[in-house]
Amino acid sequence: MKIISSPLELKNYLRETSKAMSTQNDFSIGFVPTMGALHGGHISLIKKAKEQNKLVVVSIFLNPTQFLKGEDLDKYPKKDEADKKICELSGVDILFFPQAEDIYGIDEVSILAPKVRGYVLEGQSRPGHFNGVLTVVMKLLNIVNPTRAYFGKKDAQQLNLISLMVKQLFMSVEIVPVDTVREKDGLALSSRNAYLIPKEREEALKISSSLRKASAMVSKGELNAKEIITSMIEILEPLEIHYVEIVSRDFNQLLHVELGNSVILVEASVGGTRLLDNIWL
Ligand code: PAF
Repeated sequence: MKIISSPLELKNYLRETSKAMSTQNDFSIGFVPTMGALHGGHISLIKKAKEQNKLVVVSIFLNPTQFLKGEDLDKYPKKDEADKKICELSGVDILFFPQAEDIYGIDEVSILAPKVRGYVLEGQSRPGHFNGVLTVVMKLLNIVNPTRAYFGKKDAQQLNLISLMVKQLFMSVEIVPVDTVREKDGLALSSRNAYLIPKEREEALKISSSLRKASAMVSKGELNAKEIITSMIEILEPLEIHYVEIVSRDFNQLLHVELGNSVILVEASVGGTRLLDNIWL
């Protein structure tokens, strides 16, 4: 596995490699952007990228611009050596490991999240967060110029906004959504799970239970979104609930959605740790 920290070096290396491989008409680059503290969810993104591409690039970059003041940027889990090992063992070809100054300068050009879809749900709890996400993803995609880029469905709103950016800015990368990976007891894998003490981890299971309840209700024919949300809130009640919403898959309408083509989303804090989860109906 090659480790590169300079954006220009990576760009040149990938350009040369693509040129050298141009005789192979199925040459493709799969890209998995991450903020490190890798877990099974990231490994499933890498696995998918390996299945579908000839060369796989993973980036580890703790992007400062997607954290609001007072959020957990300074204490975000950092596991550089373990992350490198995971990438190596997962068969990653290139690990891109830049520093903040390699990615950002002063007086930056940036991407603005859409005024509605970027400021509801997580965007409402964290105003401006998605500007930082879209800006860094745009930079990373421009550096790597991948055929496909892989994002987890757990961050459903992020996935939606990145897909929207790619479409609206006429970019040519294919965005590939990958299913959420869960612990055996249902907890969705997240780097922030590392903050949870055992008692909080137990409490956090209410999030996936509430989604299982919602899914069971829909399977039994419940079509009333309010009923579903009320039942979910009963399960979630002891937690600090930020939102429980059922939205269309394009995040366009916030109520009265067709249940058959929607996402049920939960964001709640457990002991100060913000956790997200969802199911796609
Ligand atoms: O989902 C994440 O880990 C981050 O938001 C991403 C997409 C790597 C951008 O920093």
